[in-house]
Amino acid sequence: MEVIRSMARMKGAAEEMRAKGVFGLVPTMGALHEGHLALIRRAKRECGGTVVSIFVNPIQFGPAEDFQSYPRPLEHDLSLCEREGVDLVFHPDPEEVFPQGYRTYAQVEGLSEILCGASRPTHFRGVATVVLKLFNIVTPHRAYFGEKDYQQLVIVRQLARDLNLPVEVVGVPTVRDEDGLALSSRNQYLSREERQSALSLCRGLLAAREAFRNGERRAEALEAAMRKEVEKPGIVVEYAQVVDPLDLHRLEQVTVRARAVIAARIGKARLIDNMLISEADETGSGEESR
Ligand code: PAJ
Repeated sequence: MEVIRSMARMKGAAEEMRAKGVFGLVPTMGALHEGHLALIRRAKRECGGTVVSIFVNPIQFGPAEDFQSYPRPLEHDLSLCEREGVDLVFHPDPEEVFPQGYRTYAQVEGLSEILCGASRPTHFRGVATVVLKLFNIVTPHRAYFGEKDYQQLVIVRQLARDLNLPVEVVGVPTVRDEDGLALSSRNQYLSREERQSALSLCRGLLAAREAFRNGERRAEALEAAMRKEVEKPGIVVEYAQVVDPLDLHRLEQVTVRARAVIAARIGKARLIDNMLISEADETGSGEESR
């Protein structure tokens, strides 16, 4: 497995990979867990070559967020990639990606300001910009993103469509712990008690799905079912909504497809989760994996 730090070297290696056939990119910020590994395994199944990028992207963190303290267990990440049979890890230097005088940003309007964007106003601009740069440098045929960060997935799909990027964006179902908690690098911030209360996010989503299965179609009632599970001492709910999976707009009444999305603060962690509550959506998403 090759580990590349320089952009010029990465471009050269990407050309060699493209010449050999279809290859996939899995963009990450490291601190890899089974959720990331599910993306890597999917890429390996579907592509001749697999590149994983590990880059804690400074421009997607707000000024009061955890950029400095974000976990960076590089050696461990590299050994996981090696074990999974990754061909190449791209781990660029932040100063080379965003040098002094950097000024250009990608903004996906209408999708970046809602939900998580309401409390993190520059976050998705930072994500869209770094993803666009990674696509340009690595030039993969396919790129793999988790449904765990559902808004991010929808934004990256829109970015690729709007800018005619020659990349197929593939969504991968959320990987959960046995008890239902969606895996996240930020779960490390939770104490044992906090981790226990974090389970109510998933329970809230399941409650909405259950209500839907029992015939409830009013979004307000589905949202109330979610909130009932989540509004507990020590948990500050940021949003709990039922949205259209394709464009994230808030539904009033579920007709065909619907996804429940939730964000809450527990201690110093901000956690997000989501779940398809209707039978099917048109994004190719299916069952959750554990
Ligand atoms: P990061 O949080 O490291 O996540 C990298 C990828 O792993 C994302 O596509 C994310 O949705 C996916 N992922 C995380 N937890 C998952 C889980 N439990 N199940 C399935 N997939 C999961 O997301 C980012 O990094 C960054 O914003 C990035 C796209 C790399 C841009 O900087």
